[in-house]
Amino acid sequence: MSSEKPLVEEGTGVTTTGHVWDDDIREWNKPLPKWWLYSFYVCILIAMVMWYLYPSWPTLNGYTKGSLGYSQRATVAGEIAAARRGQDAFRKQLESAPLEQVKSNPELLRFAMASGAASFQTNCAPCHGRGAQGAIGYPNLNDDDWLWGGTIADIEQTLLYGIRSDHKDTRVSQMPKFGTDKILKPDEIDAAANYVASLSKLPSDADKAKKGAAIYAEQCAACHGPEGRGNTELGAPNLTDGIWLYGSSPEQIRQSIETGRGGMMPAWSGRLDKTTIKSLAVYVHSLGGGR
Ligand code: HEC
Ligand code: HEC
Repeated sequence: MSSEKPLVEEGTGVTTTGHVWDDDIREWNKPLPKWWLYSFYVCILIAMVMWYLYPSWPTLNGYTKGSLGYSQRATVAGEIAAARRGQDAFRKQLESAPLEQVKSNPELLRFAMASGAASFQTNCAPCHGRGAQGAIGYPNLNDDDWLWGGTIADIEQTLLYGIRSDHKDTRVSQMPKFGTDKILKPDEIDAAANYVASLSKLPSDADKAKKGAAIYAEQCAACHGPEGRGNTELGAPNLTDGIWLYGSSPEQIRQSIETGRGGMMPAWSGRLDKTTIKSLAVYVHSLGGGR
């Protein structure tokens, strides 16, 4: 860079700074517009006022707190505490209200539904699906078909103690493993499977179904009922309603009879508190199939 006498632009009177680079690159001397400059000073002033009022600068062991004593963290903590206090009132009510009463109190019902829905997504969706639609081996909770009963109290009991779970009060009952334990011969299982298919009006072999009817009356009716309508005391599915926990193909029905299945639902007593389980019972009951 070299220097020269500033040049003057004709007409405007604007000058160059007098600095020259590479012999012919010169720089106009055009200061910032005044409006810009003063806005800049005002910004600095505002920043200094903010530093004074609000938390801003880090220090060795914390930060400057500001004269207003404002803290986002304290504000959020306060809001959470207020929401908790609001919830606590509902939780207390829910804790003491009999299940049937929850349904008739709209505010309490709304609280139980919201808390039940949230807890369902966390704890139940992995097995029963996000929409409680179920899957093979995991019952759909939206329909009006219940293995163990669909009153709100039945559902609460299922949730508290589970099904074939490790809880001492669990719901139990195990269909015999007719094939695995060699209680029936393969052709007898085949006959029983054809009879079960005929109960649901699925394609079946009439001769085998006839033989199967006799086997059914002897081996199966005690749990599934003389007409195959199931028994919620024993968790034995209705075999006539076209809803299948383990599938309706001939192979799947045969496997159910061979292995006895024995699905396991964990007990939630001890993992979730009583009020949450109550909310879940209300939520599941409301899904559509509640009795
Ligand atoms: C580890 C998988 C698993 C989880 C997690 C699970 N369940 Fe289940 N649930 C099952 C199985 C399997 C059955 C069917 C048991 C049987 O075959 O009788 C079942 C049955 C049920 C039933 C009885 C349905 C009927 O027809 O009687 C209800 C109600 C239920 N579950 C609700 C829930 C709720 C609410 C949660 C969450 C707190 C939950 N389940 C979590 C596996 C699970
Ligand atoms: C001790 C009671 C009991 C007896 C006896 C019994 N079952 Fe079952 N059965 C059950 C239970 C309980 C289930 C549900 C298993 C589960 O949820 O995992 C079931 C499930 C089934 C299923 C599956 C249904 C579905 O929705 O997928 C079929 C099919 C079936 N049983 C047929 C039979 C036949 C056929 C016999 C006689 C040869 C028989 N059961 C005898 C209790 C019994």
